[in-house]
Amino acid sequence: MAKRFGVSDLRQQLPSLLDKVQAQGEEIIVTRNGKDIAKVSPVARPGTRGPQVIALTSLKGGVGKTTLAMHLARVIADERENVVVIDADNEMSALRWRAQASDLSPEGLPFGVVAAERDQIMKQVQALKHQGHTVIIDTPPNDREMLRSAATIADLALVPVLPTALDVDRGAVSLRLLEDMAFAVPNLRFAALLNRAASRQRQTREADEVLNQTVRIHTVIPQLNAYQEAFGLTPRRLSHVQDLWEEIQKRFGSDL
Ligand SMILES: Nc1ncnc2c1ncn2[C@@H]1O[C@H](COP(=O)(O)OP(=O)(O)OP(=O)(O)O)[C@@H](O)[C@H]1O
Ligand SMILES: [Mg+2]
Repeated sequence: MAKRFGVSDLRQQLPSLLDKVQAQGEEIIVTRNGKDIAKVSPVARPGTRGPQVIALTSLKGGVGKTTLAMHLARVIADERENVVVIDADNEMSALRWRAQASDLSPEGLPFGVVAAERDQIMKQVQALKHQGHTVIIDTPPNDREMLRSAATIADLALVPVLPTALDVDRGAVSLRLLEDMAFAVPNLRFAALLNRAASRQRQTREADEVLNQTVRIHTVIPQLNAYQEAFGLTPRRLSHVQDLWEEIQKRFGSDL
């Protein structure tokens, strides 16, 4: 049921109401003198069209880029055909993950993993997109060039951040870089994502508060053995990643 707001509410709270429409994927009805006069709808509705290219990026190593890329691919693969992870890291963690999973089970993973064509990654992504693939790009740490390429071609760049002061600080550097790029790439969308959170830990609460000052994903990925032990296996359909995908679709859906 759509919420109703009088025209005067709209005058006072327009930015926060529009955020609500987009972030929560809910329509609102505008009323005047008790009569409905207009409807405000989100650009993309939940469950319809989410983004087609998502990059996991950070200059900082070990923040969970590969782990989240693989788990996100798993969740999306349950809904869409043709999901592929592009491994843009020379360490080839995602490719090795796939190789191990194929050794363990004949079906392998429910999505593809391919090596990035490093000097032509934008062309590679565009081609996969045109073939109808959903693409998740796993990027290497400390590689500004790849971060820029991946974020340019992606509909959304996610920056996983671990809940320590040092990581929040390094995450901020990656976010600043993306913010700067947005001047030249107007449709660039990016968001920080708190990973390995332990809700009862002071450091996690502090990191959470700092991230509230930035563009962030509200879903938080907890510290769990299920993630730590997932390498080389078919990623499990974990609820936090499902929540993450739902939030991404609601807030960053595209009509491309
Ligand atoms: N939510 C989580 N809970 C527990 N362990 C996690 C979680 N996310 C990641 N890890 C663990 O953290 C370590 C680093 O994760 P991962 O390799 O995905 O990070 P990365 O950002 O891809 O690293 P690199 O920058 O080296 O490519 C791994 O041992 C992984 O299992
Ligand atoms: Mg990695």
